Amino acid sequence: MKNEKSRDYRALYRSKINKKYIKNPYQIRMNVVMINNKTPLFIYIIYPTARSCLHMHKYIIKGGNRLRGSVRLKAAKNSVLALIAASVLTEDDVVLKNCPDLTDIANKLKIINGLGAKALYNGEDIFINAKNALNTNISKKLAESLRSSFVLLGPMLSRFKRARIYLPGGCAIGERPVDIHLSALRSLNVKIAENQNAIVCDASEMRGGDIVFGFPSVGATQNIMMAAVCADGTTRISNAAKEPEITDLQNLLNAMGADVSGAGTSVITVKGVKKLSGAAYAPVPDRIVAGTLVIAAAVCGGELTVQNCRPYQLAALFGALKNNYCDIECGSDYIKIKSGGRLGALPDIATDPYPSFPTDLQPQITALAAVCDGVTRITERIFENRFNHAVELEKMGAKIYIDGRTALIRGVDRLRGAEVTAHDLRCGAALAVAALKADGISVVNYAERIDRGYENFEETLRELGADIVRVAECSRKPLRKIFDK
Ligand code: UD1
Repeated sequence: MKNEKSRDYRALYRSKINKKYIKNPYQIRMNVVMINNKTPLFIYIIYPTARSCLHMHKYIIKGGNRLRGSVRLKAAKNSVLALIAASVLTEDDVVLKNCPDLTDIANKLKIINGLGAKALYNGEDIFINAKNALNTNISKKLAESLRSSFVLLGPMLSRFKRARIYLPGGCAIGERPVDIHLSALRSLNVKIAENQNAIVCDASEMRGGDIVFGFPSVGATQNIMMAAVCADGTTRISNAAKEPEITDLQNLLNAMGADVSGAGTSVITVKGVKKLSGAAYAPVPDRIVAGTLVIAAAVCGGELTVQNCRPYQLAALFGALKNNYCDIECGSDYIKIKSGGRLGALPDIATDPYPSFPTDLQPQITALAAVCDGVTRITERIFENRFNHAVELEKMGAKIYIDGRTALIRGVDRLRGAEVTAHDLRCGAALAVAALKADGISVVNYAERIDRGYENFEETLRELGADIVRVAECSRKPLRKIFDK
């Protein structure tokens, strides 16, 4: 009930007080004062929450509790980010339903508001109208705040025929170049120059073409689908990414009047249409959040139901957990996991494009492997620098040996609480999972990085029974006090 209320106030704050969306840095409390016992006076008190504090945030976690309860998923971050970009393709309204409140999404909305569009949260939905969007520069700082800023290039070229965009940022997990995006755009006859760390494109003569990706890049597939959607002729993308977020993009584009087919397979065909119109769309639920919660329940023990999910998208995770003494039941839109907290050996795991094991669950499964029987071999094939979590898990007593892109993890009986650092989003999630299992108290520094991809992660875990609180660095409360019940 309390959560229901604070959500209402947040929605009120977004829609009535602040027309432009800002990630909930404040909570609003409403007080009603009766004047002369007759006239109600509504007073809104705005007070900062931990999230508005400029200091580093920390999770303080006392390990050992089992997780019990159920969680209802919201839309997938990576899908919503691409669909927000697609909204720039039309002058009409686009509504995305059931979206989570995440820093990455807030930044993406800031970017398109910066172009002159009107984008805001309306309750749990995102409402966008890009009629007044102009072909202006995206600030370097915002472009660098997330990888998906670059996925605006395709829609901007389709709408404005020219674009200047800074190279993107995102989690520090590897080089992350954009060569596949650019060479595909060249195949569509887009002229490209580089100018002071920015890419300048001229698409005045853009037309459909045949593209063969050297690697099925998710972002490049999205960019090219959106660039080609209103171009003259037909574009065929071979070796396209097959992730559910690609199918979601195809569905939204087609709902807007596009002619795209083949998403979910390795060949996508885009037949150019004249114009796109608005649409309302419910994006696919977040499989990475689902997977993280399933792994947390497996590690901690307990009984968890994840509702509103697509279990078939996590087949690779279930394959990895099959000898793990966990009891996993899947319905069409739910996953139930029962775990005794004792974990059998894992098979060898290698990340690869969908439907193989997702790289975005690799840090979390590494945390699980740290307390499994035997030795687990995990190979990271998508990003060249995605073992930042290993050194942090070692501080908790994990035994991990890294050899290039492979980690060998010897399971230990117990992890111990420690102070660790969330180097990136999924690294943070993995450390939180490990801390939930560890003996004693752990501190996860830079917990705000977890806000990029998990909405109210600490609240979700607390509602499942975990002992977890979030504090800003300025907090002087001794840890003992925080856990005094
Ligand atoms: C998306 C997801 C990210 C996920 C990744 C792989 C978003 C916002 N992010 O990232 O969470 O981990 O897919 O599933 O949707 N590459 C190149 N040149 C390019 C493009 C990519 O070499 O032009 C390389 C990257 O450096 C990386 C690999 O290809 O090593 C995969 O990248 P890609 O599939 O493009 O991932 P993103 O779209 O960046």
